[in-house]
Amino acid sequence: MKSVSPVIVALDFPSEAAALELLARLDPALCRVKIGKELFTRAGPGLVERVVARGFDVFLDLKYHDIPNTVAAACDAAADLGVWMMNVHASGGRGMMTAAVERLAARASRPRLIAVTILTSLGAGDLAEVGFAGTPAENVRRLARLAADSGLDGVVCSPREAAELRAAHPADFLLVTPGVRPGGAALGDQKRVMTPRDAIAAGASHLVIGRPVTAAPDPLAALHAIIEELK
Ligand code: C5P
Repeated sequence: MKSVSPVIVALDFPSEAAALELLARLDPALCRVKIGKELFTRAGPGLVERVVARGFDVFLDLKYHDIPNTVAAACDAAADLGVWMMNVHASGGRGMMTAAVERLAARASRPRLIAVTILTSLGAGDLAEVGFAGTPAENVRRLARLAADSGLDGVVCSPREAAELRAAHPADFLLVTPGVRPGGAALGDQKRVMTPRDAIAAGASHLVIGRPVTAAPDPLAALHAIIEELK
């Protein structure tokens, strides 16, 4: 695998043109990129293929959650686009996750598959309301274990959860953390953030970073600064 930094730049743009303009100012040797629901819904799978063709490893962040057959087929379709990583909701259950893993394992080169445990936007009250017993932390722990037992490669988690999850899972279990802000960067709507260096020290394997790079006057310089901070 090519040696890229742990940074995954979130391409949170409303149009293909805006995403490609930013991409032209980044370097696939330095970062990977994440395409989420807004950009995918607006620009479609063609954009994913065009970003892959530019040499970038793409994390397709569509958080699949459906019956096992449907999710396995969707993961297979995402793999056909050439993405490096994709994700599902762990709360879709063991059957859904193992179906996806098995479908991807049948391919010559298997993209990474990770799980969302509990959305960080859900608090204790929200969880109780949808019928999840226990605290958010307990649910994160349980669902990360279920994802690992189902053969997934890792989970998306808050940097605050990284240390505990790292202690509970082997070194090659991927911990992909948003909510990362370099020293001095604007928080935006993120509340509990960590610096890139602290997130890696806590056990994160990859850092999802959006606005500190995408909204910077010089995105490549901002990316370089983050990578320097990690050294
Ligand atoms: O711009 P910023 O660095 O806040 O972008 C973070 C990215 O990570 C966004 O794409 C956001 O949707 C995603 N994300 C997050 N918090 C989560 C899960 C995903 O910020 N808990």
